[in-house]
Amino acid sequence: MTTRVGLLPGDGVGPEVVAEARRAVDALGLELDWTELPWGSAHWHEHGRMMPDDWREALEGCGAVLMGAVGDPSVPDHISLWGLILELRQRLDLWANLRPARLLEGIPCPLAGPGPGDVDMLFLRENTEGEYSGIGGRAHQGLPSEVGIETSVFTRTGVERVLRHAFRLAEGRRGVVTSATKSNASRYGYVLWDEVAEDVAGEFPGVGYERVLVDALAARMVRDPGSLDVVVASNLFGDILTDLAAAIQGGMGMAASANVAPESGEPGLFEPVHGSAPDIAGQGIANPAGAIWSATLLLDHIGESEASRTLMAALEDVCRDGPRTRDIGGDASTREVGEAVAARAAELSARSR
Ligand code: NAD
Ligand code: IPM
Ligand code: MN
Repeated sequence: MTTRVGLLPGDGVGPEVVAEARRAVDALGLELDWTELPWGSAHWHEHGRMMPDDWREALEGCGAVLMGAVGDPSVPDHISLWGLILELRQRLDLWANLRPARLLEGIPCPLAGPGPGDVDMLFLRENTEGEYSGIGGRAHQGLPSEVGIETSVFTRTGVERVLRHAFRLAEGRRGVVTSATKSNASRYGYVLWDEVAEDVAGEFPGVGYERVLVDALAARMVRDPGSLDVVVASNLFGDILTDLAAAIQGGMGMAASANVAPESGEPGLFEPVHGSAPDIAGQGIANPAGAIWSATLLLDHIGESEASRTLMAALEDVCRDGPRTRDIGGDASTREVGEAVAARAAELSARSR
């Protein structure tokens, strides 16, 4: 059966890395029907919207979407992001943002101690509420009395589902959940989060649970990343911690993510953690590894688990043996890396047939 997959290249380096992720997936010989979604900042300049009004219909029948990044210096970020990625996360209720941070062999780590095998963290970021609820406003604009209010919203339902998911994920891994909050300074939302975490932990006696203040956790990620297994955090904390995690696994170009609503039937949205990287866009030097890794998460989501493992193995082989882009110590182009992963993926899947 053919699966429809949306392809949303977006802005900046997005189209460059997505092209290579698609090339690598195509090398696996699956029956996929790619549906182009030409949304982003160019769409905004032409139509005044980041994506068409009927975006939901365009996604009809798609099992998943592979996305690059959005954001262009010609459009204010709060307009482009709230018009596309944040809108999709909220409207599709993609409440779980999974971000694996594993240091692969051959990838330089900026920390002195850890090598491959020492860094294997899985971040689960709450993805629809918290500090990103979008509630707030501004008044008295331009006057000395101007105010800007941004309200965090934590619901028991929202917090509980993400925490329960973290414990289920930990059951299939090393069995430890670290929950990051800031309930010493913020006394409502994060305190609710801590209370729910305590309750949910009680449902999983086989999984270890620890509550860590997010500032201390940032330091611990640098000092001792090997002590972390599944880290669950609010929307904003998860955002910040996963750029740090990306750096630890070799840089922004390495990190992958899955925006999903487990058990809902909604299409998942798979994208590298990095943004549109305007500083290197158009030069053909962006690292496609995070986008390719995201494609492996996508394949798993649409039920192609074996293909997912094959593609991940191909990516790992290329990270170990090269070619590599310059951000991870090589001198290859985006395309050369994509072609190498595709060739290796084709080789590995032919062997397993
Ligand atoms: P960024 O992730 O785009 O770039 C940060 C740094 O990482 C830059 O030096 C960049 O060159 C480098 N980098 C990023 N991706 C890389 C890759 N694949 N290979 C090699 N180096 C890479 O973050 P930013 O500069 O803060 O944001 C740029 C734009 O992207 C902004 O408009 C921002 O809002 C947007 N953004 C979008 C998403 C998304 O769509 N999911 C995510 C993050 C940022
Ligand atoms: C991410 C990005 C987004 C976020 C931005 C672009 C809104 O940084 O996916 O990590 O903050 O969620
Ligand atoms: Mn981010």
